[in-house]
Amino acid sequence: MLNIGEGLIQLHTRDTSYILYTGRQGLPECLHYGGRIGVDDAAPLLPKVEAGYGGDVVCRDGQAALSSLRLDLSPVNRGDYRAPALLAELPGGATTADYRFQTSRQLKEAPAAGMPHGREPDEVLALDFAEPGGLQVELFYSVFCEANVITRRMRVTNRCAGPVRLLRCLSYQLDLPGRDYELYNLTGAWARETQLTRRPLAPGILRFGNGTGASGNRVNPFFFLARRGAGETTGEVYGFNLVYSGSHEGSVEVDGFCRTRVSQGLWSEGFSWPLAPGQSFTTPEAVLTFSDKGFDGMSQNMHHFVKNHIIPPRWRNAPRPVLVNNWEGTYFNFNEGKLLAMARVAAKLGAELFVLDDGWFGERNSDKAGLGDYDVNRKKLPGGLSGLAGRVNALGMDFGLWVEPEMVNRDSKLYRAHPDWAVVSPGVTPATGRHQLVLDICRPEVREYIINSVNATLDSANISYVKWDMNRHISDNYSPALEDQGQFHHSYILGLYELLRGICEARPDILFEGCASGGNRYDLGMLYYMPQFWISDDSDAHERQRIQTGASYGYPPCTMGCHVSAVPNHQTLRVTALETRFHTAMFGLLGYELDMTALTRSQRADVKAQIAYYKAHRKLLQFGEFHRLKSPFEEAGCRWMVCSPDGDEALVGDFLGLMVPNADEPPMRLAHLDPEALYEIAVRPMKIDIETFGGLINYILPVHLNPDGLLVRTAGKFYRMDTEAERYTASGSLLCRAGLARMQNFSGAGYSDSLRFLHDFASRAYYLRRLDDPYTAT
Ligand code: GLA
Repeated sequence: MLNIGEGLIQLHTRDTSYILYTGRQGLPECLHYGGRIGVDDAAPLLPKVEAGYGGDVVCRDGQAALSSLRLDLSPVNRGDYRAPALLAELPGGATTADYRFQTSRQLKEAPAAGMPHGREPDEVLALDFAEPGGLQVELFYSVFCEANVITRRMRVTNRCAGPVRLLRCLSYQLDLPGRDYELYNLTGAWARETQLTRRPLAPGILRFGNGTGASGNRVNPFFFLARRGAGETTGEVYGFNLVYSGSHEGSVEVDGFCRTRVSQGLWSEGFSWPLAPGQSFTTPEAVLTFSDKGFDGMSQNMHHFVKNHIIPPRWRNAPRPVLVNNWEGTYFNFNEGKLLAMARVAAKLGAELFVLDDGWFGERNSDKAGLGDYDVNRKKLPGGLSGLAGRVNALGMDFGLWVEPEMVNRDSKLYRAHPDWAVVSPGVTPATGRHQLVLDICRPEVREYIINSVNATLDSANISYVKWDMNRHISDNYSPALEDQGQFHHSYILGLYELLRGICEARPDILFEGCASGGNRYDLGMLYYMPQFWISDDSDAHERQRIQTGASYGYPPCTMGCHVSAVPNHQTLRVTALETRFHTAMFGLLGYELDMTALTRSQRADVKAQIAYYKAHRKLLQFGEFHRLKSPFEEAGCRWMVCSPDGDEALVGDFLGLMVPNADEPPMRLAHLDPEALYEIAVRPMKIDIETFGGLINYILPVHLNPDGLLVRTAGKFYRMDTEAERYTASGSLLCRAGLARMQNFSGAGYSDSLRFLHDFASRAYYLRRLDDPYTAT
């Protein structure tokens, strides 16, 4: 809700308020951003500070010093010594800029300027400012009521007599009172993305970001600030993100008066953007949220926003298919026969989509050649893509394909024909990453070529899904198409968005999944065009629990591609149980990425049961509300819960780290249930291979057997034990406040079928159902 009167501008979402004041010095002062206050209650917030302190500089005689104000836009070189969101070189070279409020406007939409943005805002406000030399600044605020999100962006227009150069142009600055916060970022590297990193604030600037040309796996654009003492479900938390896929930065600055300035936007190192008179520049949109219900409340807001205002509307409520991807199963070494053998097993086990990964085109038999040449390799696929897709379709599955359109290998027909299309800085041999160069999509002719060639591929067969990859950081920043090379990073991303409009938006029924060596470009900008992302090349279940937990602070699991892969795991060489790999992947968008033909009979039975279980609970898993009950960043183990929005059902995943004998086994406490309701809670039944017990088998069976012998191995093929069968009826209040006491863990002594046999990285899944009539419950 928007309320404008007497210099006070109020933006309200369901549970938050953002109160601005433009009545003093013509500057936008942020009087409050946080929990919701009554529309008629804001007047006492009006500022009372009138004079500066000591050496403070006042920019208007008799008025408060800027350094004591909380400003959404700062005049430059006028006494606010915190880092400003906007820094521009005006005609003649001066950077001093004194902005003054002009007017406020209500709009239907803020300008998108070719960039993705939150869809369908409830209200949009524009605040106009002018600087005496003619630089014009518009601040845009879009309100997303139910998501408790307010987005911000800025447009700068040159109305001066000469050229202007933007030196820094971030999406927002936000001044919060006090410095009593901790900063949480998602940091990492390839195959170790989205690790939660916590830092307390202290006076000074903490600057973070990613300058690799993509939103990056080093520092994701999502971050949050938690007031000291806030935890998973209590306390005040501010969440921030960008709807952007390129280099970005954020900073948190605690000034000498112990106030905290947060700002975020385009990476400013090397950034420089010329504006001729009449030209404008629009920043990417930034996402701000607040919750007084801890990390979980902040995450729920972000999840709601992504699900309802970011991903393409076509996929908002569309169930995503269980897929099988051949990459870790074959790498480049496949032919049609091998793929179809995998597809036949996949279809029998219940998979719905078969995805052909890298290696299907040109001379692409390793990562050294072929990128750029999307003509089918007929030696591998004699029937072409349409032949293979037809056969996969005949098995009852959809067909999907991998592409990496932004890149080229030197050893390719495309590079030989257009060596000048690769990004190269004059006179410097370009750096390579994974043996590939980056195509210069700042250039219109390169974009046109890519759009046509990818669309031709997509039209050549019945393709329902595309994995769009991008496998290296960008270097050698230079494009002959640009007036100023400081425009390079952002122009690349504007070029990328043009590709995504020309390919993804033009084919709304194809399900696109983003990938950038895993999660190197997992951000709201990509999710605007592609509803899901392969968030890490690390498919090890134990590592994935950290990666998925970290990502879940800002992104809902319905955006996370999660695959069951073979063991020993290809990234960590770790061995985890097939059921744990499944339980971990099922909390995202389930897929299998292994050679299905290599599965044993019992593994096939397990996978078939897993896929059936996932399908039975798919709606809950993909569209439910995801919560963290136990974070691997804080303690050993991990526990997740997903609840249906109506509260009628829930699923819990409980993951053990290392097995500790005779460890404390506290009751399993849940959350987010109706305390008054009665629930049935049942563990997912599984089988245990008798080989798991090694020599202990002789204490379980009446006869003596060699644990490594043929007999045990043969028996193991036909006989497997059932895991504990636990099923209880319990009230929501008990489950949340006391917890569920489960059967005892096996701890090296005795055998009984009412023990839970757990081992390193074991896991359990529990399904909860609200009982209609508690009195008939057993
Ligand atoms: C990247 C992706 C993988 C796979 C390979 C293919 O590494 O992250 O999932 O598609 O490329 O080359």
